[in-house]
Amino acid sequence: MKRLSTARTTLPFALSALFSAAMAAPAAQAADVNIYTSRQPELIQPVLDAFSEETGLTTATIFIDKGLEERIKAEGANSPADLIMTVDIGRLDAAKQAGVVQPVDSAVLTKNIPEHFRDSEKEWFALTARGRVVYASKERVDADAINYEELADPKWKGRLCTRSGQHQYNIALIAAYIAHHGEEAAREWVTGLRDNLARSPEGGDRDQAKAIFAGECDVAIGNTYYVGQMMTNEKEPAQKEWANAIKVIMPTFDNGLTHVNVSGVSLAKNAPNEENAIKLMEFLSSDTAQKIYAEPQLRVSRRARYRDVGSRQIVRRT
Ligand SMILES: [Fe+2]
Repeated sequence: MKRLSTARTTLPFALSALFSAAMAAPAAQAADVNIYTSRQPELIQPVLDAFSEETGLTTATIFIDKGLEERIKAEGANSPADLIMTVDIGRLDAAKQAGVVQPVDSAVLTKNIPEHFRDSEKEWFALTARGRVVYASKERVDADAINYEELADPKWKGRLCTRSGQHQYNIALIAAYIAHHGEEAAREWVTGLRDNLARSPEGGDRDQAKAIFAGECDVAIGNTYYVGQMMTNEKEPAQKEWANAIKVIMPTFDNGLTHVNVSGVSLAKNAPNEENAIKLMEFLSSDTAQKIYAEPQLRVSRRARYRDVGSRQIVRRT
């Protein structure tokens, strides 16, 4: 285990924050656990605060939307990063492939996180899951069940909206389709989706709900939690109308399950504060932390009277 040293940990962290001021905002102070994250810091702050309350350890986050692996690689042995927290299985795998993370042997993580939600080589651990589902017009779509395969059916011609097929959320969905049906079938499926498009892919998932509200399309592909976010958006109340125009249909593959993507955490290869970092990883998988992840969403779901709009807990609550 590496010994903690203020000089060794603080200086590189401060320097790296300085050098990358353009892409890292706000510049974080070195702390007991330093996190590089592509997640919006405010989303993970409540859970980090709870960790500090419980352990007395401080955390600092640097938001890095792009080039996270490259940056850690460039920092090399002096990297101040202890943990990497990111959204999307592709990004977790990219960090692993880039060799900027290391395995963690933890009985707590193994117990708390189901096997299919962690890397078999222990280099990443998923913390939350989000379904990629169908938004359907309440007014113009009668069906209450639509599977992924059906989205390519010509009956939806000119009626489908989605964000770019090259966005990580859709890439992960297409990867899931390949896993279920093989590459050839996936190619046909994607071609079918393209042929059904009401307009060129544009915007984010919420923009697809907006397009349904505006009558531009009848079905769209989107993540669950955006529905909750739209329903509770006080800054832009129009989003409530977009959300009210749609119903959420949980599509399934032939195994009866809905595709989910994950957010997760990895221990950085040269983590200066390894022991603290693993403590935080374990905390993130705990019931306490998982409740904090889920509760705002649960509040939303109560308001929306919709059961499954939020990020799902990975740890089952007892
Ligand atoms: Fe998102």
